[in-house]
Amino acid sequence: MYETISELVSRYTKVTRDPVSGKYFGSCPFCHGRTDTFMADDRKGIFFCYACGASGDKKDFLARLEPNKYAMVTCQKNPVLLQIYEDTAYFYYTELIKAEHPGRQYLASRGITLDGIREYGLGFAPDGFSVLYSRLKRRYRHGELMASGLFKLSARGYPYDFFRNRVMFPIMDENGDVIAFGGRVLDDSRPKYLNSPETELFSKRRNLYGFPYMGDIRGQALILCEGYLDYIALHRAGFRDSAAVLGTALTEEHARLIAARYKEVFLSMDSDEAGIHGAKKSIDLLRKAGLSVKVLDFSPYKDPDELIREDPMGMDEFRKRIEQALPAHMFLARHTKDTGELIDILMQQVL
Ligand code: UTP
Ligand code: MN
Repeated sequence: MYETISELVSRYTKVTRDPVSGKYFGSCPFCHGRTDTFMADDRKGIFFCYACGASGDKKDFLARLEPNKYAMVTCQKNPVLLQIYEDTAYFYYTELIKAEHPGRQYLASRGITLDGIREYGLGFAPDGFSVLYSRLKRRYRHGELMASGLFKLSARGYPYDFFRNRVMFPIMDENGDVIAFGGRVLDDSRPKYLNSPETELFSKRRNLYGFPYMGDIRGQALILCEGYLDYIALHRAGFRDSAAVLGTALTEEHARLIAARYKEVFLSMDSDEAGIHGAKKSIDLLRKAGLSVKVLDFSPYKDPDELIREDPMGMDEFRKRIEQALPAHMFLARHTKDTGELIDILMQQVL
């Protein structure tokens, strides 16, 4: 836990100490006012915003910032499940780092070498019926293992591993605890990706892959992409305020989570029809949560990963695309064929 309230709030907004009163003032992280309406008082251990009225102690500050997370803190995440996930991530990792492993060769072909494997905690789920289950059975009860979502029951009632023969991406929450996985095949077989099912730890409506840890927020804007490998390419290229949706449409919960920490979102969806359609819906949700939205264009590439790795200018080109990002209303106007809708979009801008 942070020491003082000013230390805590300074992770989310820049505050300056007033030498006379000893209080800290800055822009409010909740109403994002332009003037310094937000105050933190270390002596009393409280914060207060003169503009929006937000107030309380450290706990209230965190609760306001992240209602989802706060709910988890108060009802405590199941420690056995967390331990199962941690053991599993470690097991997958030790599998993958074996020399000459085909998973490593695959990742190398996608530009990820050993240091990337370490940084993102990647792993490999071996191709057996119940390799993981047999291993974890030594430490955990059957019921606990089944509740993890990492196993299924065969028609004859035998437990088997849900992820087999896949490169594994651990999905972490904002404390850095592994709460789920995504797994990719090494070839063209289907499904290309499998994600952990919903469990008491994990809901893909609420979690984003790579969403920065508490205290690791660097900028005002979040880059939101579609895939695990897009996220890794972006993060490696230095765009640390990035996250990926988990094989699902962006939800209202995602938008709220982002709005509690950022002001702006750069949408980095695939440049195909589905991506454009998805972007339109995401714009709506993000704006409703109070975020300003811009849309990136990667053409002629399919996604950020391709652009960063295949364009001769690599991350510099990506940076250029960020500068050229279209404000949401321009993007919407460009992608509508309906004149009435177009007028609505433009009127909203004027009003
Ligand atoms: P894409 O199919 O756009 O692939 O899936 P990608 O990210 O470019 O994958 P690579 O580059 O071929 O590895 C985007 C995201 O959609 C989810 C995953 O989260 C993936 O990262 N997805 C995709 C699934 O959940 N299941 C699938 O079968 C495919
Ligand atoms: Mn891709």
